[in-house]
Order: sequence, then C-alpha cells, then structure tokens
Amino acid sequence: MKFSSNILKYGIVAAGAAKVALAGGVDGVGKIPFSKRYGKSFDESRQISFSEKGTGGDDQEIDISNQNVYYSASIYLGTPGQELTLLLDTGSSDLWIPQKGGYHCQSDSDDATKGKSSGIASQLFSIASAEGGPSPSLTTTLIGSSGGSHPDPLEPTNRNVQPPAAITASALEESCQSSSGNFDPNSSSSFNKNDTVDGFFIEYGDNSYASGYWATDDLTVGDISVKDMTIAVADDTNSSVAVFGISYRGLESSVFGDNLQDPHEYENFPYLLKDQGIVKRNAYSLYLNSAGASDGNILFGGVDHNKYSGDLYTLPVLKGQEDSDPWERFVVTVQGIGIKGSETQNTLTTTPFIGLLDSGTTAVYLPEPVADMVANAYGGSFDDDPEVQSYVISCPSDDEKIVFNFGGFNIETSLSNYITDNGNGQCILNISPTSDYMGILGDSFLRDSYVVYDMDNNEISLAQANFDSTEDVEAITGPVPGATKAPGYSSTYSGPQTFQTGGNIF
Ligand SMILES: *[C@@H]1O[C@H](CO)[C@@H](O)[C@H](O)[C@H]1NC(C)=O
Ligand SMILES: *[C@@H]1O[C@H](CO)[C@@H](O)[C@H](O)[C@H]1NC(C)=O
Ligand SMILES: *[C@@H]1O[C@H](CO)[C@@H](O)[C@H](O)[C@H]1NC(C)=O
Repeated sequence: MKFSSNILKYGIVAAGAAKVALAGGVDGVGKIPFSKRYGKSFDESRQISFSEKGTGGDDQEIDISNQNVYYSASIYLGTPGQELTLLLDTGSSDLWIPQKGGYHCQSDSDDATKGKSSGIASQLFSIASAEGGPSPSLTTTLIGSSGGSHPDPLEPTNRNVQPPAAITASALEESCQSSSGNFDPNSSSSFNKNDTVDGFFIEYGDNSYASGYWATDDLTVGDISVKDMTIAVADDTNSSVAVFGISYRGLESSVFGDNLQDPHEYENFPYLLKDQGIVKRNAYSLYLNSAGASDGNILFGGVDHNKYSGDLYTLPVLKGQEDSDPWERFVVTVQGIGIKGSETQNTLTTTPFIGLLDSGTTAVYLPEPVADMVANAYGGSFDDDPEVQSYVISCPSDDEKIVFNFGGFNIETSLSNYITDNGNGQCILNISPTSDYMGILGDSFLRDSYVVYDMDNNEISLAQANFDSTEDVEAITGPVPGATKAPGYSSTYSGPQTFQTGGNIF
C-alpha cells in the first residue's frame, strides 16, 4: 500500500539558444544544453537562476526544495525550424511532438496540468505484462510486476485501450495547447509523412497518451543538426508535454506496441547521429548539474572530464528479454546501499538489485525492503495516511549522504536531494518503495552522478559529479576515454534474493 503521492516523475526539457558553440570546439561531439525548470507540474514550472535563488526579500524567490525539477530542451523541427520544448528522457526512445490542433484539452483544467507520470515505468510494465507477467528468472528478464494490490504508478497500463476520438482543431480554444508548443507539418518543406508503417501510440503511467503517425523531418537541437530523422507526430494527445526519448532502439514504441502489423526498430536520435557522421560512437554523457542550477547538458559522442571527480568506472548494461532486441533500457546492478554522515557510515545491505538510470523520473524508487532500511536508518517509517503515503523522517542535518555501491566503487548522493520539509520538523523522504527487484535511479540519484551511456558497447560509465562550469571535452572514438572497468564489473544479475542487512560497501 505504499506509494508516495508527492514524488514526481518526469524529466528533461531541452532549451537554450538555437545554435551554441561546439562543445569545447571538439570535433565529433554534439552538445545539447537543457534548462532546469522548477515547479509543481511541468506547466507551472519555470526557470530560475542562481541570482534569484536565496536572495532574501526577492519576490522571485522559489524554494526549490519543495519543487519538482524538469529538464527541458528546445528543438527546431522542420524547414524553417519550428521551436518546440521537449522533455529529454533517457528512459524512452521516441521523439514525439503534438501536431498543431492535436492537443486534447481537458474540461477539467486541473487534470490537464498534472505532472507527467513516468513513461518508462508504464512501458516497462506493459512489456512485462505483454510477455505474460513476471518471469521467475530475472537473469535475462528484468522486471516482474508485483501482483500486489497497491495503487502503484508502476502498474501496467492497458495498451489495448483505444484513445478517445480526437477533438477537431476548430473545437479547440485558442488558449488550449501543449506546453511543448505544437508543430505544423504543412509549414515545413522538409517534412515527409510515412504512410507505410503502423500508427504511433504511447501511453504513460498517469494514463496520458499520444497517438498519431510517423514521419521524418530535419531537426536542430543544441549544436546538432540531423536530416530526415524519424519522429512521431501526435494528432491527438492529452499529455501536457512532449518527449524526446534517447534510449535504446529496442524500447521504441514501434517495436513493442500492441496490434502492430510490422514491429520494427528505426534509427532514433543517438543512432542517427552516428549514421550521419556527427559522432564517432553511439555514446553520450549526462550532466544534470547541482540542485538549484539553472542548466545542465548532454554531450553526444563526448565526455567532459571536468564534470566528474575521482574515477569514471564502467559497468555492463543488463540485457532484457532475449526473444527481441535484448538492449532496451539503461539498467545496471546496484551491489549495495548505505548511509554516511560527517562522522559515521553504515552499510544497510549488500544484496544486489537492479537500478534503472532514468532521467525521466524525478524521484528514486527502491525495492521495498531497501527503501524501508534507508528510512529506518534515519529513524523514519512509512506513513500510511492516505494524505501522506510516504516515508517520514525527522529533518536531517546537512552532509548526510545516501551511498550506492556498484561493485568496487560508490556514488554518494545528498540526502537533501530526497527531502521535502513539511514545515513541522518532519520531512518527507522522497524514496518510493517498489514491490519488485528493480529500483529506478531517477534525478535525485543522477544529479550527483556523471553518467556516460555507451550504446555501442552496452556499458554505463559512472562517476561522482563535479559541479564545475569549465569544460575539458574529449571525443569518444573507442572505449570511453578515462574510464576503467569497475572492480566488481559483472555482466549478470543473479536474480532476486531476500534482502539481508549488513555487509560493507565502505
Ligand atoms: C495541412 O494541409 C491539409 C491540406 O490543405 C489540411 O487538410 C490539413 O488539415 C493541414 N494540417 C494541419 C495540421 O494544419
Ligand atoms: C517508413 O518507416 C519505415 C520504418 O522505419 C522505413 O523502413 C521506411 O523507409 C519509411 N518510409 C518512408 C517513405 O519514409
Ligand atoms: C488522458 O486521457 C486518458 C484517457 O481518457 C485519461 O485516463 C487521463 O487521465 C488523461 N490524462 C490527462 C493528463 O489528462
């Protein structure tokens, strides 16, 4: 019965100038800057800058500790480019945009402005259910849905449900449009609708959906321009924001959707960059920047050595189902978890579990026994009150860290990333328990990490983030430069085990 209602779920929006300088002028590296927006929902979120933050008496001030963060990128689609603001999502694989007039307005405006739920989670569990439910062996099958009765946002969504009939453009009010903006294919000379493939349909964990068709068009984002990129055009959606998915081809909605005549993969953005010679390797590095920073970036084909400290360690990505493309999601084995204060450190468990590195999820989800251990370690417990439905702890002092072990090295994440102060000396710990063996390492984790997603080698390289505005960018032309194999590099997850306390990760 546990699921935090105040964790929010969704991700990165690309923003910034149309053209920026090449990342450090390095050949073979493309950079997408993104804006960080803070707010209760994507629609209400806005950008803040350091100067706005913490300046007492400034009525612009926002308390970011009680806000969700969204990462947004501006893309320029078509010829001439039409600007759209998208969530950049490492947990899904399609880029879709709302067609002009295609946003499905809600009569209940409140519903229409709710935050987006985790796309990846619903996709994930859709797959699990489509494949006949949880597999007893998690060695190759990553996910089992719980079978529990809790109102879990990770419950499978029924992809057979047909979306409601589209509202015609004329019926739409002027003011009613997606916060992403919308796209008019008729105004793009480079646009080509693809009439020979199945339609596009995707549904998210909050039941918002996007439905439409596939097309190709030219795209510019950051300092990158690609030709004839496959995009999905939603002529009917009620999602308040459009998504720019950059995960594996194996997770494309053209592969796993229901009722497809011709399930197939296509070259999505990261693959296309390599095909078109913009990068040498299909690999990219994600830097979310510190809490409160107004921007971050993603480097395609490159690593910025100034954005991490200590060693950059490489881990294998775990394989998914074997009957299809096994590479679907950025999942790695977490080998243990602990907590660290200024003077103490304490390992909670060294039982391994699966962690999905998902920038499209704001919070962190952990297997319930592990989430309980973390809350207990801070003297807290789960509050079942329907109004709360979260772990509640007494508000911590500074310098507390939740530490994740990946086999021979640790990433330390600030406890403050997970905390919402509810004002009466009690704090909500924004870690949600899941009833399976997979956790989602969302932004609260990723913010303190530097992550290189290497889709050519099916590896992740991870290091402690270093918040530094200077750059030392190197192109990735083979193995990730500067990275070494993690001491505990292991390519298999041995399957669910009972979580035990103890061990030592320090
Ligand atoms: C594009 O033009 C066609 C033909 O004039 C029209 O039927 C269609 O509604 C237009 N599409 C949009 C999105 O405006
Ligand atoms: C339509 O999409 C399919 C699958 O991506 C591709 O093979 C085909 O070339 C596309 N056709 C056009 C006209 O773009
Ligand atoms: C979108 O539509 C679906 C299906 O009608 C509904 O369940 C969902 O609540 C709507 N979502 C939003 C964000 O409006």
